[in-house]
Amino acid sequence: MTEPTIVTLADGEACSLAAAERIIEILDVAIDDHGEAHWVTTGGSTPAGIYHHLARTALRDELDWRKVHLWWTDDRFVPPDHPLSNVKIADEILLAPHRAGEAGTGGVPIPMDQVHPFETSAAIGEGHDEGWCAHRYAEDIQANGPDTNDDGWPVFDLILLGIGPDGHILSVFPGSETFDRPEWALGVPAPTHVEPHVARVTLNPAIVPAAAELLVVTHGDGKAEILRDILRGERDVRALPAQLARRPGATWILDQEAARLL
Ligand code: 6PG
Repeated sequence: MTEPTIVTLADGEACSLAAAERIIEILDVAIDDHGEAHWVTTGGSTPAGIYHHLARTALRDELDWRKVHLWWTDDRFVPPDHPLSNVKIADEILLAPHRAGEAGTGGVPIPMDQVHPFETSAAIGEGHDEGWCAHRYAEDIQANGPDTNDDGWPVFDLILLGIGPDGHILSVFPGSETFDRPEWALGVPAPTHVEPHVARVTLNPAIVPAAAELLVVTHGDGKAEILRDILRGERDVRALPAQLARRPGATWILDQEAARLL
């Protein structure tokens, strides 16, 4: 078998629920295996529905969240409360309700020192650039992240991925120079071909295939053509970075609209 598992469901809501259930399973197995779980989450709008199921339904009680470390694939170089921040929806839906102690409103109890956003606030506040921010992130992974594989890349238990309209994952765009770089995390100039046009910080794409589990979730008709290219076209990860997750063992959860050309 050389291809990932593709699960096609009725709609985005079904995808969010299935993804939330799979996330719980994967993190639970990791905790059983080595006492903690390192989950890298993604940006975009897709995680909102997933976070909702994790934070506000009975699923929340199926995992020992105190053993989970939460990381991000990438972020925009803006403060975490900025509307463009990839941290903002995770904070608002997944984390903050518990932190605020809002009885009955949900939120997962991941200890705050196990929540690892790119430190964009510190970087911007102290006048540093994206490269500095990325370097700090790599140091955080080194100090608090998972073990590394034989090639020296950190092996996260789970990386959740969304798919950009151009086939990007993380902030690794088609033709990205990050493919030739050794750093675990990097600054990326603002892309001109895809919105939003703001500078980024991202994990190195080599960290994607190194992960123990990959879960790709995307839905909607607008993703159908790029998904056909990614999953049925020639393999060229530099042209279509999402093909890094086109590998055995990865699970792609799609709705019928997104999967219609497969
Ligand atoms: C970015 C986004 C991006 C996102 C995808 C999917 O920084 O450009 O994080 O990688 O994950 O574009 O977005 P949707 O979930 O909104 O489809």
